[in-house]
Amino acid sequence: METKKILLLGGNGKTGRRVAQLLANKNDVEVRLGSRSQNPSFDWENPKTWTEALKGIDTVYITFQPDLAVPNAPEIIKKFTSLATENGIKKMVLLSGRGEKEAQICEEIVKATARKWTIVRASWFNQNFSESIFLEPILTGFVALPKASILEPFTDADDIAEVVAEALLNEKHDGKTYELTGPRLLTFKEAVAKIAKVTGREIAFQSLSLEEYIAMLREYEVSEDVIWLVNYLFSEVLDGRNSSITNDIEKVLGRKATDFTDYVAKTAKTGIWNEVNQLS
Ligand SMILES: NC(=O)c1ccc[n+]([C@@H]2O[C@H](COP(=O)([O-])OP(=O)(O)OC[C@H]3O[C@@H](n4cnc5c(N)ncnc54)[C@H](OP(=O)(O)O)[C@@H]3O)[C@@H](O)[C@H]2O)c1
Repeated sequence: METKKILLLGGNGKTGRRVAQLLANKNDVEVRLGSRSQNPSFDWENPKTWTEALKGIDTVYITFQPDLAVPNAPEIIKKFTSLATENGIKKMVLLSGRGEKEAQICEEIVKATARKWTIVRASWFNQNFSESIFLEPILTGFVALPKASILEPFTDADDIAEVVAEALLNEKHDGKTYELTGPRLLTFKEAVAKIAKVTGREIAFQSLSLEEYIAMLREYEVSEDVIWLVNYLFSEVLDGRNSSITNDIEKVLGRKATDFTDYVAKTAKTGIWNEVNQLS
């Protein structure tokens, strides 16, 4: 069998890292991590790095930074996917955001440019609470967020990675768009309460208006790019449009999607939510 040579963009990120682990021991698969710190390096902001990173590769997992909804994403995705196809890439798997109209423009570009493709649209990751933006507030014991009553089907990055690995390896997923959700709807407040319960820590939750939240981020000197994205996600996407569950994870993996409670139990054992010293 021919060896599949796969480039994982965002190979150190929340899903890319997991996909790399899943592919690590497979026969006939070679993996290259797409990262600014690898050699060859890959940087979305430096197109000169793209050709070298694509050399000898036949399949690419695309995770864009910071989000496919940012205004210049279609231009960059068009440039990258065209170059990838010119360089012989046979298949692209794109990680997209569920309910993001703007991200769908990029999906269409991939569909029009790639020889073969799979689109994986994901809801908010569970791991945002342990590996990303919500970790620090959880560690400080105070989470303040807008849209406290919106129900979201938080999805586990392990599940997303398994679906992506399947899509990268198996041609039966060619030409398919999957919408991945967890198996139940939770508000941010309920999600934080579950973490508090399992860790035995007090974590206060305050509901804010979006304006108050943005003002708070500015006070913490969060960059304007991140503020733009947060504003977009909380104003456009978190309006209840994603408050429904799909069974695409089960359809692809033949098992149920990971429940938020199981994610919390597993993650609590790693101690990540107890490491208050991380903040000092
Ligand atoms: N998080 C969610 O809830 C969620 C939900 C749905 C969809 N998504 C989508 O998933 C994708 C990944 O989002 P994420 O926030 O979860 O990030 P992530 O996968 O954890 O990726 C973070 C990685 O991005 C890499 N990176 C940052 N800037 C880069 C650049 N200029 N060029 C190349 N690589 C760069 C960094 O790797 P190096 O330092 O190694 O270069 C970092 O390890 C985004 O497109 C997002 O829209 C996320």
